[in-house]
Amino acid sequence: MHPQSDPKVLLNAVSPLERGSHVSSETLEFHKRLPGYAPTPVFSVPGLAERLGIGTVLVDDESERLGLPAFKMLGASWASYRSIIERTGIDPTGWSTIEELAALVRPHLPLTLATATDGNHGRAVARFARLVGLDARIWVPVGTVDARIAAIESEGATVSVTDGTYDDAVAEVASVQDDRTLVVSDTSWPGYEIVPQWVIDGYSTMMSEVEEQTSAGGLPDPTVIVAPLGVGALGAAIASHYADHEPRPVIIGAEPTNAACVMAAFEAGEVVTIPGPHDTIMVGLSCGTASPIAFPTIKAALSATVSMDDEWAEESMRLLATEGIVAGETGAAAFATLLALVDRRPDLREELNLGPNDVALVIVTEGATDPVNYRAIVGVDPDAVRRQGWGRKSEVGTLDS
Ligand SMILES: Cc1ncc(COP(=O)(O)O)c(C=O)c1O
Repeated sequence: MHPQSDPKVLLNAVSPLERGSHVSSETLEFHKRLPGYAPTPVFSVPGLAERLGIGTVLVDDESERLGLPAFKMLGASWASYRSIIERTGIDPTGWSTIEELAALVRPHLPLTLATATDGNHGRAVARFARLVGLDARIWVPVGTVDARIAAIESEGATVSVTDGTYDDAVAEVASVQDDRTLVVSDTSWPGYEIVPQWVIDGYSTMMSEVEEQTSAGGLPDPTVIVAPLGVGALGAAIASHYADHEPRPVIIGAEPTNAACVMAAFEAGEVVTIPGPHDTIMVGLSCGTASPIAFPTIKAALSATVSMDDEWAEESMRLLATEGIVAGETGAAAFATLLALVDRRPDLREELNLGPNDVALVIVTEGATDPVNYRAIVGVDPDAVRRQGWGRKSEVGTLDS
């Protein structure tokens, strides 16, 4: 059945914003040295544009990124790498392959990377630890599905289930930092700000690639971008990237109804913790507290935050599948926001750049990280969607890896 629930929309007056540290060339050069690096595809999808009544819909498909099914490896790898460099003092110019990096790190072992996660960030940290020969300890909230725990364990990590929410898992991991344990969290807390900023910086590679691809394809910059918001690190990366674009695109935040911690912070004027449980199928966005270092950037950059019920994500997974795009529950959140807005709040089309002359950028931030639930929602396996290649999507401006 087509979703009937109304999204909650909070409009926000944007303010001037400085482009964050100009790190994207440095992070891109780093990511290019990782095994399996390739820019992820950006598709123009006329079927989705027609459905939304928006001129052009571009989909940045992050369902496969550096060998993992989500964009998160970009931030996790960069933050882990910078943390290792700080701790060991190894020469960042002294390697060109991951094996060479592992050899430089070896004399400094044992070292452990630790983090809390809803799934994707933790798996990415564990993958990076494995690539360079470190141990990994990952904390997940209670209720995390077996498939996600198994995926983290498949990277050789030790997984602990916290008896509580993602925020509780973060609190637990904050206390394990020691001489041999480096905490690589994507959210910040007072006194722990440098590493989460590296996570944000790592995501800038994605924005640089999108910009290069659209310009290579002769397409204009997006006029509207949806930022799915968990703790807000990705949102801050998007906002800083477009901060000096003239005109700045409209950026819309996307959250699940039960975990709308950024919207709560907008309402309160400061970061607040919303009580759990933060139940949603969009588990990557299931957080009760925005990252304090991401919040000021997001507050300056977002024209609106939107929270919506899970049914919008489910409908979006199906619609994206009909265009041959595999989006997991969280991966569908950006498109879901546009769908909910055009269907339920057509009065906002003009204000939020959702019109026939606009270009929307939708980041599908993850693939089918829970294949059983994917099949239950979409009706077919993710592989079948990929194999069929339904729809009329076309890749814009391919880049060399
Ligand atoms: C697939 C996916 N999309 C989006 C997000 C949101 O990113 P952030 O927590 O930086 O806001 C996450 C976070 O875990 C995620 O896993």
